[in-house]
Amino acid sequence: MSPRNIGHADAIPVIDVFAGPGGLNEGFASLERGAAFSVAGSFEMDTSSIETLTIRSVQRILRGKTGANHPVHEQLLRGQIDLATFRNHPDVVDAWDSAAAHVHQIELGGATRRESDSLISQALAGLSAGDPWVLIGGPPCQAYSMAGRSRRRHDEAFEQDVKHFLYREYLHIIRKFRPAVFVMENVKGMLSTQHGGQGLFQRIRDDLENPLGGELERYHLRSLTVATPVVKQPRDFVVRAENHGVPQARHRVILVGVRHDLHEKSKNAWRPLDVQFHVPTLSDVLADLPKLRSRLSPRRSDSAAAWNEIRREAFASVHRPLPEAVPPLGGAWVPASEYAEHRPAVKELMEWLRHSPEGYSQHETRSHMAPDLVRYAYLAHLAEEGDRPHVQDLPEALRPQHKNVTKKKVPFSDRFRVQRWNHPSSTVVAHLSKDGHYFIHPDPAQMRSITVREAARLQTFPDDYFFAGNRTKQYQQVGNAVPPFLARQIAQRVYELLTA
Ligand SMILES: C[S@@+](CC[C@H](N)C(=O)[O-])C[C@H]1O[C@@H](n2cnc3c(N)ncnc32)[C@H](O)[C@@H]1O
Repeated sequence: MSPRNIGHADAIPVIDVFAGPGGLNEGFASLERGAAFSVAGSFEMDTSSIETLTIRSVQRILRGKTGANHPVHEQLLRGQIDLATFRNHPDVVDAWDSAAAHVHQIELGGATRRESDSLISQALAGLSAGDPWVLIGGPPCQAYSMAGRSRRRHDEAFEQDVKHFLYREYLHIIRKFRPAVFVMENVKGMLSTQHGGQGLFQRIRDDLENPLGGELERYHLRSLTVATPVVKQPRDFVVRAENHGVPQARHRVILVGVRHDLHEKSKNAWRPLDVQFHVPTLSDVLADLPKLRSRLSPRRSDSAAAWNEIRREAFASVHRPLPEAVPPLGGAWVPASEYAEHRPAVKELMEWLRHSPEGYSQHETRSHMAPDLVRYAYLAHLAEEGDRPHVQDLPEALRPQHKNVTKKKVPFSDRFRVQRWNHPSSTVVAHLSKDGHYFIHPDPAQMRSITVREAARLQTFPDDYFFAGNRTKQYQQVGNAVPPFLARQIAQRVYELLTA
């Protein structure tokens, strides 16, 4: 199978670089059920993300044959078989080879440029002159994320950091292969970062608009939030995911570059994303998932009796009656049909999230230390009363033993954060893999941080999206991604432009 015909024969090819688990990719690949775009190549260096991308691609190939998920995929989702068994299943072997031919594990950078150039050339080989293709992806952002910047302000090595310049790899691909359109996502911090005394964003913008220096070779940057053909304000490139049906406050810079010849043709075809009337909340997208109790750390101390003892202590500390015990492995699951009826405002989103399996996967709690469970219950109770509690709101006995906690201005006072039922969540970040304090589940009875599936729901990954690797890797991948539900809306605009 040639790289181009993995999707629909007329689909527009997409090259996805720094692909992560494929959030952006999913939006493009799913538009018009795969008839609009087909992913001709994904480039990524992380092993777990590569597995995730390959599994998703295999799933698309198998689904293409019957229109439904293959039973072996469902088994993988439910944890009934491991990845090796999935991969060696007779119905999967060929699909895996086809998928693997498009998913490339490579560390992009000067040293591998020749190899990546050759892979991109192969992926685009079937195109005739003038056929459009799209480049998507965002060069890594850590180096100019807000947190990264303040922590590393005095760090000289920062100025030399290779990640700062990975966008140059992106620029190189634009220069050499001239996509019809590119979509580049990045953190908001890139708008305010200074580099060598100059605003980094302006430099990147100059490069992207004039990659080869000539007027006829230039790209025109479009905003997804305003319609003007010339975007003056950098803030107009900031997309707020919660305005577009995503249950999460996630603000990212997204640049859409249109090649000069197409810009002339499609000047009037550009529309920014629709702003949706209803901002989805945690409760909209998580309330149907089974309740779970947290696990206790260390694992040898984990038992229903020990957990209930801690729960009694926690509820006594807030003078609340003890609610019903929560099972460790999931209680009832609300069927999709029943649930959608109660939430008409998020019908489309829920259909997107829950379209296929009548079950859930990767929804397991992690272990927490007993004192953290009590803190979670306490803070979740305060949040139920409408507070946005901080670590200082904990009674003396529950405060972490850290000297800074008693200071007036507490560093990391947001270290513990309860997500609120009737609001979108705060930004789901890769750091969630380290600890869950920042994503405490709003139900005090569950005393836990959110699961990978809940994080994936907040990021709008469909329930049948499987994340490979251990749990740390799964959280990282989810936190890194562009929300697929948003990505599909972006893909829609790009498609309208290319077919105008
Ligand atoms: C922000 S994530 C991309 C998310 C992706 N666009 C999505 O929507 O799912 C950035 C990714 O770049 C990868 N990465 C970082 N440096 C890289 C390099 N030099 N070559 C290839 N991949 C790299 C990281 O492993 C990470 O998965």
